This record gives sequence, C-alpha cells and structure tokens, in this order.
Amino acid sequence: MSDAATVRGWVRAARRIAVLTGAGMSAESGVPTFRDAQTGLWAKFDPHQLATEEAFRANPRTVWDWYAMRREMVAKVEPNAGHIAIAQFQHRHPGRLTVITQNVDGLHQRAGSEGVLALHGNIADDKWLDAPRSCCNIDAVSADHPPHCGRCGNMLRPDVVWFGEMLPVAALTAAEEAADSCDLMLVVGTSGVVYPAAGLAYRARGHVAVINPEPSGLDDAAHAVLRGKAAELLPGLLAD
Ligand code: APR
Repeated sequence: MSDAATVRGWVRAARRIAVLTGAGMSAESGVPTFRDAQTGLWAKFDPHQLATEEAFRANPRTVWDWYAMRREMVAKVEPNAGHIAIAQFQHRHPGRLTVITQNVDGLHQRAGSEGVLALHGNIADDKWLDAPRSCCNIDAVSADHPPHCGRCGNMLRPDVVWFGEMLPVAALTAAEEAADSCDLMLVVGTSGVVYPAAGLAYRARGHVAVINPEPSGLDDAAHAVLRGKAAELLPGLLAD
C-alpha cells in the first residue's frame, strides 16, 4: 500500500488529528517561505535585522515597512486547496482536527478553519511595543511608520513572535495538549528547525506523517514521509 494510502487510512481511523503547519503550507498561495533556497525570505533579508525586538527598536521604520510590505502581499493572496481541505474536514468532522500553525498569514482562518492555534501570532494584528499607558489609544495613533501614541511616543509593532520572544502561552499549551492527545499528527510544510513549534512533532501521541517536497528536520519523527506539496496531497488525504 502506498504511503499516501497508509496515511489516508490513519486519517480515517483517527479520532483526534493535529495538523502542524509551516510556511510551505502557504507556498502554493504565493507566499514566500523563509528558508527555501533563493526564494525564501531569509535568503533576501537577514532575520536578525528584521524579526527581533532589538532590530525594531534600532530601525522601527525599516522593520515596520518590511511587515507592511508582507501584509500587503498576504492580503492579495488566497487560501489554497490545502487550507480549504483542512477547513472542510473540520466542518465535516467537528472537534476531530486541530490546526496548529507557525504561519502568521491568517490563511487557515480565511479558508474557514476554526480554533486555529497561531503559535507565532498574526501579521494583520498590531500591539503596543511598550506597556500601554492611559494615553495610548490604538484608534488615535499617528499616521507615521510605525504609528505611535501622540502623547507618550509608544510605538505600535506587528503582533507576531520575533526571534527570542516567548510564544503566546495559551496557544502553545493548547498545541501541546493537542499533540499529547492526537491519534495522528500531519506535519505540513515546515523545515522543523524552529522550536518550540517543531518539538510538537516529537510529542505526538499517535502516528506522525510529514508532508514536504524536501527533506525536513522532522523526517526522523515521522512514521510516514510524503514527498509532495500541501495543496496537491491534502485534498486526497482529508477527503473522507
Ligand atoms: N508544500 C509543502 N511544503 C513545502 C512546499 C509546499 N508546496 N513548498 C515548500 N515547502 C517546505 C520546504 O521544503 C520547507 O521544508 O516548507 C518548508 C518551509 O520551511 P521554512 O521556510 O523554514 O518555514 P517554517 O518551517 O514555517 O519556519 C518556521 O521560522 O522564521 C521563522 O517564525 C518563522 O514561523 C517561521 C519559523
């Protein structure tokens, strides 16, 4: 029996499925990944110049404008067949499938997935850089890049997890619980090099299936590796 047929059998038999996704999940929507050679974002930009609090404090306009460019790009793309297959499976089988994503593009949510555990935040959301004071009103910020409070100068920043920052506790705890209780984990489109997200694949109670056209850092955690693309494979795997 082919590996894909095996994994589809695991899907059918699983009462609880966790899906852990990374940037490759959105690649077929046209969103660049981070580490794919040449096309990856980190091939063009240095993450430590853009995706850390220190970088933002040192060059707020540069970092803000880089995220604004990514926000515009994400707003123009659509969820792909893989996102839609996951969302439709959730609707056909309420409570059986939990989406855990490292992605900040909001495409799972836009495809109709519910209860998405967004471990690294959402690029469409902002939050205050420093603890907001009574004068900090998000509806009355300056039009600058980045917007800031006109009274105290507190800046807005993207509500995403930067390198060195803690993940949202509630989302991570729920993701760990989903891994600990799942009968099957599908690991889709992640290089598996960033923790604690990648560590969830080693916590999975049941079978682990990796879906990735390239070798990944989580292949050794897998009981099956499907060398293919998310939008091509997921509709068949989640068709029941
Ligand atoms: N379908 C499935 N997987 C794909 C596809 C596709 N169509 N295209 C590429 N991939 C795979 C690549 O082979 C690679 O293994 O997606 C993976 C993308 O890896 P990364 O670019 O490292 O992205 P990710 O694993 O999500 O990065 C994790 O690192 O920079 C931080 O916070 C950022 O959330 C991100 C985290």
